[in-house]
Amino acid sequence: MAVRLGDEAPDFTAETTEGRLNFHQWKGASWAVLFSHPRDFTPVCTTELGAVAALKPDFAARETKVIGLSVDPVEDHHRWKGDIMEVTGHSLNFPLIADPDRRVANLYDMVHPNASDTATVRSVFVIGADNKVKLTLTYPASTGRNFQELLRVIDSLQLTARHSVATPADWKQGEDVIIVPAVSDEDAKKRFPRGFVAKKPYLRVTPHP
Ligand code: BEZ
Repeated sequence: MAVRLGDEAPDFTAETTEGRLNFHQWKGASWAVLFSHPRDFTPVCTTELGAVAALKPDFAARETKVIGLSVDPVEDHHRWKGDIMEVTGHSLNFPLIADPDRRVANLYDMVHPNASDTATVRSVFVIGADNKVKLTLTYPASTGRNFQELLRVIDSLQLTARHSVATPADWKQGEDVIIVPAVSDEDAKKRFPRGFVAKKPYLRVTPHP
């Protein structure tokens, strides 16, 4: 069954490049990004894993752990690591789940048979400190993901979890935000002491809290 926003992220125990781990224990009270890619020794995936490795400090700054998944065995993952380092200049610095029996992939509905019977699509799950799914993304095998966008989304998810705000199109950390409609004008004056501009009665903008 599909894993949807607000669901508890399914737990599992699996072999990874950093040994056998239990997902919920490994994650602890951090946020996490769980992402799948189709196969080892494939070109787009090689670039993606290097890109995520390069951004590990940026994820860590957001108290977010990253973990990848592919349906190949862990021995293949270890052999592939050298290529990732050679091509991207970044060594794999986060666990990569080996899922040859597709147990975890099926748990998270990462195999889309009309795209491929055997390989996982490029799924992303952002999971909050409370183990609930906050965001899902699905890309096809042919399109590498933009992991800077993932950092941007995590900034929004974490900000909107703390304050009664939403973030507009193309928002970036530090920019003005939108006060959610459920907050009355009177309440907004108390909650947002720097004030707000009502562009419409339902569209009130306030500085980044
Ligand atoms: C890749 O990662 O490059 C890839 C994997 C499967 C199909 C197409 C591209």
